[in-house]
Amino acid sequence: MKFSKVRGLRGEVLVPGDKSISHRSVMFGAISEGNTEIYNYLQGADCLSTISCFRKMGIEIENNGDNVTVHGKGMRGLNRPDCVLDCGNSGTTIRLISGILAAQDFDVTLTGDASIQKRPMGRITEPLSLMGADITSVNGCAPLRIAGKRLHGIHYTSKVASAQVKSAILLAGLYGEGETRVTEPYVSRNHSEIMLKHFGADVRAEGTTAIVQPARELLGNVVRVPGDISSAAFFICAGLMIPNSEILIRNVGINPTRSGILKVCRDMGADIRFLNEYDGDGEPAADVLVKSSSLHGTTISGEMIPALIDEIPVIAAMACFAQGETVIRDAAELKVKESNRLEVMVNSLTAMGADVTETEDGMIIRGGNMLHGAVIDSRLDHRIAMTFAVAGLCAEGETEVLGAECVNISYPNFYGDLERLMR
Ligand code: S3P
Repeated sequence: MKFSKVRGLRGEVLVPGDKSISHRSVMFGAISEGNTEIYNYLQGADCLSTISCFRKMGIEIENNGDNVTVHGKGMRGLNRPDCVLDCGNSGTTIRLISGILAAQDFDVTLTGDASIQKRPMGRITEPLSLMGADITSVNGCAPLRIAGKRLHGIHYTSKVASAQVKSAILLAGLYGEGETRVTEPYVSRNHSEIMLKHFGADVRAEGTTAIVQPARELLGNVVRVPGDISSAAFFICAGLMIPNSEILIRNVGINPTRSGILKVCRDMGADIRFLNEYDGDGEPAADVLVKSSSLHGTTISGEMIPALIDEIPVIAAMACFAQGETVIRDAAELKVKESNRLEVMVNSLTAMGADVTETEDGMIIRGGNMLHGAVIDSRLDHRIAMTFAVAGLCAEGETEVLGAECVNISYPNFYGDLERLMR
């Protein structure tokens, strides 16, 4: 798909439901008693993989294309699937489901696409094994073979701040004997803790430690999924960096463990306002108004990183249009996402004429050079494709994004929504 410079982006956009919250609503609904009604479920390929996995384990799930009803069968109600569970491109699906499946009374094999088969699974197989799980992988990657076992609680100290790791352990902990604790270097997104509580589990946080007690049962509930701030990020950054822009993004989730991008943009001098803030069952949301702004560089590191990990590609592109230097540190996790996002960002921004240097755990971007169009290989990574669609709207000449259709992972109508704003 090809992109060229626009005069501005103006109007309103309603981004689709949050990917992390959508996954969790189906997973937790499936192991709860009774029905779970989910409004604004993300119909991206990743969240459809989660629905498909639970259907294969005997859970009836009605999906009318926006709202989803999960007919939960309780913590012990899953059936042994008669095939391999295919998690597609979705790290959240494979890692969180593993926590549930480690405690069932059947065997199962989980796999996914070529990207998933390269991503590290040792980060979940190690703690789950310490809890008594029988889980094996091929060279630390998918496919994973899990033979359900009786589990016990542990206190696990994770080297990485990862909500997928934390959530897998907490889900296993629901089934284990005794309390389970997970300590992270920095707090990662806390959607599992919020939603598990909403479904009746005893979960709490003490600093960077999440604590769960074993559960006898969870109770199905209503989940209203806010818009995904990781999808809104493309419009936030585009609106700030493209002159003559003003975009109102409605109903965006602004959970503080997710909304680091807003702080970074404000630190860079952005004009961002909240118009209507509300609390949706513990997950705050707001309408976000962004206007073209004169930006300057900043430093992003440490505890900020988990709160904006998926937004770093588009923040890096935006930093090319800011005056001065932007330094991103402590972001080595980007190397093990859907693609090696550090390498892909540095190479692709360089191809467009940016002044960027890769470091061991991040990059340094010296902003202010005009970017020019280039052919960018998305590597079938949805966030890379969307980042370069946006970059292409403010570069000179034409930018072509290869594999552009991969946005269907998290935002099937991204290009349509972007086009409606173009002036
Ligand atoms: C997610 C956690 C993050 C994030 C991913 C979704 C989640 O991954 O990058 O897109 O839903 O828990 P890590 O846990 O690997 O940081």
